[in-house]
Amino acid sequence: MCGIVGYIGSRKAIPIVLNGLKNLEYRGYDSAGIAYRVNNKIEIKKEQGKLDNLVEKVNPDKETFTAIGHTRWATHGKPSVVNAHPHHVGKITLVHNGIIENYDEIKKMLNYATKGETDSEVLAAYINYLYQEEKDILKVLHQLQKNIKGSYALGIIVDNDDAIYCLRKDSPLIVGIGEKENFIASDVPAILDYTKNYYILDNGDYGKITKDEITIYHDGKEVKKEKLVFEFDIASAQKNNYEHFMLKEIHEQKEVLYNTLKSYEKSTLPDLNKYDGITIIGCGSAYYVGMCVKDALEKNLNIKVDVEIASEFRYKRVFFSKKHLVILISQSGETADTLASLMKAKTLGVDTLAIVNVVGSSIARETKDVLYIKAGVEKAVATTKAFTCQLLLLLMLISQDNKYKEFDNLINDVEMALSKEQDIKELAKKVYEHDDVFFLGRLGDYAMCLEGSLKLKEVSYIHSEAYAAGELKHGTISLIEEGTPVIAIITDKEIADKTVSNVKEVKARGAYTIVITNQDVPKDIADDLIKIDLEAVYLPIIVIIYLQILAYYVAVNRGCEIDKPRNLAKSVTVE
Ligand code: G6P
Repeated sequence: MCGIVGYIGSRKAIPIVLNGLKNLEYRGYDSAGIAYRVNNKIEIKKEQGKLDNLVEKVNPDKETFTAIGHTRWATHGKPSVVNAHPHHVGKITLVHNGIIENYDEIKKMLNYATKGETDSEVLAAYINYLYQEEKDILKVLHQLQKNIKGSYALGIIVDNDDAIYCLRKDSPLIVGIGEKENFIASDVPAILDYTKNYYILDNGDYGKITKDEITIYHDGKEVKKEKLVFEFDIASAQKNNYEHFMLKEIHEQKEVLYNTLKSYEKSTLPDLNKYDGITIIGCGSAYYVGMCVKDALEKNLNIKVDVEIASEFRYKRVFFSKKHLVILISQSGETADTLASLMKAKTLGVDTLAIVNVVGSSIARETKDVLYIKAGVEKAVATTKAFTCQLLLLLMLISQDNKYKEFDNLINDVEMALSKEQDIKELAKKVYEHDDVFFLGRLGDYAMCLEGSLKLKEVSYIHSEAYAAGELKHGTISLIEEGTPVIAIITDKEIADKTVSNVKEVKARGAYTIVITNQDVPKDIADDLIKIDLEAVYLPIIVIIYLQILAYYVAVNRGCEIDKPRNLAKSVTVE
């Protein structure tokens, strides 16, 4: 969602901020803007749509050394120039990520006539109002927190004051540390071209950033922050020679799965045997990770494992014993509903374990225990490598072997799956012109169908649905027409015959069937058969890689904007 970048230093600020915003494009947005100081006057440029629209309008050579920029993902008010950030009211210019829940109340109290429809513009007016009274912006940022409700990461410049001010609550914000230059940003990739060193702001932290100094405060007192160094290879945040980040990230799975496998010795992982129940919580693909491992966890631990959508869980009545574990899954570690679910689990007094990619993210810091996957920076909005790494880490948790012997062939098998790219590319040609696609499977196979179907619709905009194969007769089968693609996953030996029967039913009604299986299924059920000769606990990882490649090439054939699908955001920091 919204991306914030700020720069203050001795280099020209505009190209640095625009480059930072470019590197945050993966977060998703629908307008962009920048504010900079020239001869002590603030100039603002904003454009609707892609960042390139803004880039065309701004002169990068302007003599300006302080700038704040923003990519906006619309929440309050449509995408438009007036609603785009930065917002300027009186002496205050501000960029905001988050939602101010009581903005209407504040607007009435101020009697302020807004130009646009955003809560952020009202916030700018409010800060300006407080600043007129207080005259000290740091005091204002302290006081403000008592009066506004919601989530906010803020970058602020004040007329006649050459500094960038910032404040953070429940929306991510970091401060980048440079040499005679400093930064603020929503996420590390925005600053990696300039520095690997940064501070993470905690909720309630606010600060003043100048060219030479970073001062952070909390509750009116200066605080010392721990300096962090970005540990991944910077190249992992670049596209290299791939046409899209999604394809690059699909190929990186070999390496990042290996890194994840090597990252934790079995003896250092938490023991799940002490719990009498587990709830796995996530959003989107992270939720499907839970679905994919549920069966393996239940079989292995012999306890009930529930998988919950975070936005549902947070408002649900739950009955946990004290020996219950809640596992939160999140690539970004910032997803608002997953974070809220974590806070709820904490108030219930149960143990919490987060499986996260982004080091130091909110979920990672709030949870009792955290395990990091080693996926590196994931930029394509549709997750691929983080998904399979999360799956692997959960399977490692229930491994019975200290050396993870059951994963000895994982990397070879991943390589084998990736080597089938050309075959799947051909298959994609038979799918891409259809308006509807269905995925069929049972139990664990159904879970893989859910992720395969989500991936396909996210990037190709084809209407796609995953069905528990047995549900077919209860309505869905009416949707099958001559040539409708149906992708069946059959890897569960015990119920393979049942799914085979369901595939026969759709084939008899004209469906074009693609069957992905490791079983000896009758050849005539499949128009195209993908046979994976593998029996392994990590089979879902391999099947999902095939489905990722299929989704990718279907989207390529349809000419879609693969890395940044319309309306989607990578990091969903609002409810
Ligand atoms: C968004 C992304 C999905 C992701 C989900 C959860 O919807 O587009 O790919 O699975 O958020 O994100 P998280 O960062 O919590 O894994």
